[in-house]
Amino acid sequence: MYNSKIIGLGKYVPENVVTNDDLSKLMDTNDEWITERTGIKERRWVKEGSDDTTATMGVKAAKIAIERSGLDKDDIDFIIFATLSPDMYFPGPGVQVQHALDIKTVGALDVRNQCSGFVYALSVADNFIKTGMYKNILVIGSELHSYGLDKTTRGRGVTVIFGDGAGAAVITREEDTSKGILSTHLHSQGEHAEELVLIAPGMGKRWVNDILAENDPNDESYFPHMNGQFVFKNAVVRFSEVIMEGLMQNNMDKDSIDMLIPHQANLRIAQFIQTKFQLSDDQVYNNIMRYGNTTAASIPIALCEAWEEGKIKSGDNVVLAAFGSGFTWGSAIIKW
Ligand code: ACO
Repeated sequence: MYNSKIIGLGKYVPENVVTNDDLSKLMDTNDEWITERTGIKERRWVKEGSDDTTATMGVKAAKIAIERSGLDKDDIDFIIFATLSPDMYFPGPGVQVQHALDIKTVGALDVRNQCSGFVYALSVADNFIKTGMYKNILVIGSELHSYGLDKTTRGRGVTVIFGDGAGAAVITREEDTSKGILSTHLHSQGEHAEELVLIAPGMGKRWVNDILAENDPNDESYFPHMNGQFVFKNAVVRFSEVIMEGLMQNNMDKDSIDMLIPHQANLRIAQFIQTKFQLSDDQVYNNIMRYGNTTAASIPIALCEAWEEGKIKSGDNVVLAAFGSGFTWGSAIIKW
């Protein structure tokens, strides 16, 4: 029996900074509304015509993570890619990474699960390593939201929240089972699938083809829809539950947390959790102010930055927690 541990982290965000004031030139919104409701001051949006895609940003983050891991690319024996914004409807970006990195013919798995995609992907990697099936797994979370957002006033409730970027981690076998990823916890509640949803180009409705034929400019199926207040209320409950679940499984309590990396959904959600668990500012890492919500990329980007800034030390108890569309949610408890 083994544990798994993270030995390399990388991130990539596009250069193009879009401030709240920039958005107010596209739609009826303003810095005060966005800052007060979400904490976001700016986000990165891929510039049209740039080479950045969900897959290529993932590759850039992955190269950094592999280099920092000290492994060679050919040591990677499995790839897991979490995203809700793949370059193509199929195949998913896992195989694009395998090709771009020129890593033999290792398996590549695509994970959906939206904002909790990285925690789900990490859990799969952890369990593949724990069973001995693979030794070194590359886990990526990457999103290019901006091409798919409604940049008119109609879409403002959703569009101002999301940003583009990628994060990656190399996970390897750890012989000492008191270290590394101690446990992961995954949940879903599909009855709320349509509270945060992008319907097209799903095959659930025959009319997708009809919409394309009609090219109806008022059709909203290709834009994400979110019942913001309902998502908020569920998020604060589920974040708390799944953090507690992880702590209890490892005989820990809130005082055991050295660093909480919440999915960067909304600063107000993170602050609610911080208050509930009575954590100091040093015990919670937030960067949503600079990047917005990058869904599956948000945790690996934040984890990478926290590590780069020296905020995570050997022996720390690091908690990852996410909640999002599905609803899906999850946590990971890590002894760094
Ligand atoms: N700028 C200005 N006004 C806006 C904007 C905007 N960008 N968006 C909406 N409004 C207006 C609305 O039209 C509405 O106007 P009205 O009162 O005249 O009808 C008013 O502001 C209030 O709108 P609400 O949607 O009720 O605003 P709310 O206070 O709920 O804030 C928000 C919206 C920020 C989305 C909030 O519900 C929220 O944070 N929800 C959590 C969801 C979340 O974090 N999602 C992230 C993705 S999911 C995840 O990662 C967990």
